[in-house]
Amino acid sequence: MALSDFDLVLFGGGGDLSMRKLIPALYARHRAGDLPPSAQIVCVGRHPWSDAEFVEELNRNAKPNIGEKVFQQEAWNAFCASVRYVSLDATNADSYDPLVDLLRNDAGLTRVFYLAVSPTLFASICHNLHRRGLATEHSRVVLEKPLGRDLASAKQINKEVSQVFKESQIFRIDHYLGKEAVQNLLALRFGNVLFEPLWRREWISDVQITIAEELGVGNRMGYYETSGALRDMLQNHLLQLLCITAMEPPLSVGADAVRDEKLKVLHSLKPFTPTTLSRNVVRGQYRAGHVEGKPVPAYRQEKGADPDSNTETFVAVRAEIDTWRWAGVPFYLRTGKRMADQLAEIVVRFKPIPHSIFAQSTNSFVPNCLVIRLQPDDGLQLNLMAKTPGDGMRLKPVELELDFAETFKTPRMDAYERLLLDVLRGHLTLFMRADELEAAWEWVEPILRYWEQEGNEPIPYTSGSWGPAAASALIGRDGLQWREEVLPE
Ligand code: BG6
Repeated sequence: MALSDFDLVLFGGGGDLSMRKLIPALYARHRAGDLPPSAQIVCVGRHPWSDAEFVEELNRNAKPNIGEKVFQQEAWNAFCASVRYVSLDATNADSYDPLVDLLRNDAGLTRVFYLAVSPTLFASICHNLHRRGLATEHSRVVLEKPLGRDLASAKQINKEVSQVFKESQIFRIDHYLGKEAVQNLLALRFGNVLFEPLWRREWISDVQITIAEELGVGNRMGYYETSGALRDMLQNHLLQLLCITAMEPPLSVGADAVRDEKLKVLHSLKPFTPTTLSRNVVRGQYRAGHVEGKPVPAYRQEKGADPDSNTETFVAVRAEIDTWRWAGVPFYLRTGKRMADQLAEIVVRFKPIPHSIFAQSTNSFVPNCLVIRLQPDDGLQLNLMAKTPGDGMRLKPVELELDFAETFKTPRMDAYERLLLDVLRGHLTLFMRADELEAAWEWVEPILRYWEQEGNEPIPYTSGSWGPAAASALIGRDGLQWREEVLPE
């Protein structure tokens, strides 16, 4: 569906996210022919660049972030022609003059303000946009994470932003919701009859959701020290994946239909108690080690790190959902930096067969398992038991594998491309609603408070491993193992 003409204003336009993700995503949609020729992208920052200097800055970042294969000089030049740069002080409404001059005054035009800046600036930018008459009832605002650092600050952000924009104009980004595999999970669950009857406590033993990264914190130490893995990944990405996995069938894929169901999941998460906090949450921090055969430093030795830092780079949690569908089924969530592999997956493990009619001596039964892979590539894997060919009745675990790139052979779309298109079209389904955001913070808040207690330090784990041994113990107490612990070498 073609986009109508727009002015897109990127606050933080010269920043890391803009250069690494947003500009490449917009360029990709430009190359695909989605952006109207007269669309305007206005990057806003404090640095006093001219348009030409900013384009030089874009050029410097283009190839490494877009990739040599996709980069095409002519298309890039045409794209850059639609980019403007405005230098202003986001906290000072008087400095917004150049922005006021640039934005077109046409009620039929889509106007989007994308705030890729610190959340401490959200309120003042929204109020300043209002003061300068830029926030009209047709404009939209996009809020990048982190959306607060606890429940109180998230509420405050929601309150301030809602003084200027209606909920239907607010797009809270969680880029995991834009990933192809997450949408495929919806297709899998609600486009087939096969899984839904089994998608419940009677048939599912446990669900594991892992986002493991080989990378360390890189040059984001300043941000990461104020965040840690819980705020950076668990409160948002992991909980959103849990919601999509566990929610009841929504009435439609309409924004509120889906968000109502996700909210119910968040409200049904069993709250932590002092006992479950100590048993069901593991917090780790990487030490020096090897990743992909190369030595890497400890978190505390990274550039700009506090040598006594207690910021966690790993978190694992055992969650439970108190509903008829899920009562008693553990959901294990974990994420970490400098892990043994770069992967994101949802593993749904089914219960063992109730009774075997085959000779036990020659067969060992591996319960069925469905793996929804988000990274490094999108795919589905279903593990079944099958007979080995030949004489006798020997059963063996086999894998049915669906590789989406291989199957569909159509170009992939990055999460930010999809989400930006949705913002420009005004589709809210893949964005978090205010109440969802607050419910997610409400559930994780006791973990934050527990960690603040004295002496509560993260457990060290070796870079290039799967995290602290306590994470294996967490799942081991239920007589289970993480998927990689049961995979054949
Ligand atoms: C971001 C986090 O939201 O997600 C980063 O701030 C993390 O710390 C990133 O590396 C992971 O996203 P992806 O899409 O690369 O898995």
